[in-house]
Amino acid sequence: MKTILVTGGLGFIGSNFLNDFVISNLDKNIINIDSQTYAASTKSTLDLNQFSNYKYYNIDILNKEDINNLFSSYNFDLILHFAAESHVDNSILDPLIFAKTNTIGTLNLLDTFKNYKNFDDKLFYHISTDEVFGSTKKGYFDELSQYKPSSPYSASKAASDHFVMAYYKTYNLPVIISHCSNNFGPWQYKEKLIPVVINSIIKNKTIPVYGNGLNIRDWIFVEDHVSAIKFLIKNHSVGETYCIGSNNELSNIDLVKKICKISDKILKNKIPSDNLIKFVNDRPGHDLRYAINSKKINSLGWNPSASFSKALEKTINWYISNKKWFI
Ligand SMILES: NC(=O)c1ccc[n+]([C@@H]2O[C@H](COP(=O)([O-])OP(=O)(O)OC[C@H]3O[C@@H](n4cnc5c(N)ncnc54)[C@H](O)[C@@H]3O)[C@@H](O)[C@H]2O)c1
Repeated sequence: MKTILVTGGLGFIGSNFLNDFVISNLDKNIINIDSQTYAASTKSTLDLNQFSNYKYYNIDILNKEDINNLFSSYNFDLILHFAAESHVDNSILDPLIFAKTNTIGTLNLLDTFKNYKNFDDKLFYHISTDEVFGSTKKGYFDELSQYKPSSPYSASKAASDHFVMAYYKTYNLPVIISHCSNNFGPWQYKEKLIPVVINSIIKNKTIPVYGNGLNIRDWIFVEDHVSAIKFLIKNHSVGETYCIGSNNELSNIDLVKKICKISDKILKNKIPSDNLIKFVNDRPGHDLRYAINSKKINSLGWNPSASFSKALEKTINWYISNKKWFI
């Protein structure tokens, strides 16, 4: 029986992954470790506790002793590394915790994995971001793009990517990295743009938009990211990197206006919520545009399947129906 380690499985993307993967892989042992930072939610994976192939441990990836014990207790075939500090604004206020969790935490996992004697059919899959490539005015990021991180968050992710590749080149560890664009969907912590906007609409309070709102992001529905990860687990070459995007480029202001329109329809608001929009001081080092060229993974046979509008509507409906969780 294959044994799989998921780190950060109580976070936004990790929990969406587990809610799909545990149920569709009953023949595999799936271990979730998460240190339950403010961004974790035990509710997101509550339904999984009934499955005997799923187990959760409260473990911090910075605790080398706990990680060593875990890797001795289980012989992991696959490590899916989601755990991270993920909010750019927080990284501007406190870069050190980002360097610790994202860089040293990843290094702890790699260094412990390195102690295994046999790497046949094993894989360390590092979940990274397109933000490591910085900003692009024109064109698209792909697997050959230069690293040019702008924020302490993306710098810490870039550093972790470099360690992952260094362990591949120096110690022959079987690794892959995927760089995904901005995700949206259920269970995202309330600090992120889409939940912030819905939260403001529900409470009828100001919707803050950074700068002039013209920064562009390439949005992907979290279910599509999960399907890409599942695809790459089966279809990859060791030592390679993969860009995952969904061709949904949108300026922040256009996205916010769309959310207002959909929410107003659902909530039957009489006064349009876009009246609540207020431009606020820009985020320092704010990248202008992220855009992903996913041709490599597309050519292997993976394509996103969500319609952006339908997925956004589904997401807004989810937040409105789960007000208690995120407000
Ligand atoms: N959200 C996005 O749009 C996006 C896009 C591309 C890549 N990513 C990457 O995907 C991964 C998951 O992102 P997310 O949005 O789900 O983040 P998240 O902040 O929602 O979840 C992160 C999880 O990691 C856990 N964690 C943090 N520090 C830990 C530690 N020291 N030990 C153990 N667990 C710890 C947290 O408790 C939390 O449950 C991250 O690596 C992120 O860089 C995110």
